[in-house]
Amino acid sequence: MNIKTFCLQTSRIIAENPVESVPARISEYLPEILGDRDLLTADQKVPPAKGYGRHDVFLCPDDHFSIIAAVWPAGIISPIHDHKTWCTFGVYEGVIEETRYRSDPSDPCGVDVIATETVNWVAGDVTHLPVGSGDIHCMHNPTEQVAVSVHVYGGNSVKLGPNVVKVYREAETAVA
Ligand SMILES: [Fe+2]
Repeated sequence: MNIKTFCLQTSRIIAENPVESVPARISEYLPEILGDRDLLTADQKVPPAKGYGRHDVFLCPDDHFSIIAAVWPAGIISPIHDHKTWCTFGVYEGVIEETRYRSDPSDPCGVDVIATETVNWVAGDVTHLPVGSGDIHCMHNPTEQVAVSVHVYGGNSVKLGPNVVKVYREAETAVA
């Protein structure tokens, strides 16, 4: 599947399905473009001097979805965050360690979260976040090599800016 076919398929999925099912459906065929070594330009894989890199790969002209590439320097870890729109992502190069979280019900401010699962995703792997709530996670490159991930988001990523609503903190675990 080339990028054009991928985008047509994604448009069709969005048009024909409830939004809750869109990320899972996209995850079924996102692996088909992750193997395309020409998907990203050399510039889109260069790590930035600071933070992580973000490059627009394709923006749906109707603002229904965006494809971006994220470049993760060795050792970098994102804040714990949730999202403005639905998201499916996969690893293009390297390894991404993703940790998912749930809200800590004892925190009245809704900022503290508790880790529920950590998974190491390698090149070719794809996952997606639940739509709405339950989409709190952080991304970490635990290796000494650059990692590159490809994200399909709802909406126009330029207009949306960072796909983050809120930043969270890991709740301190009680010491017995
Ligand atoms: Fe995220």
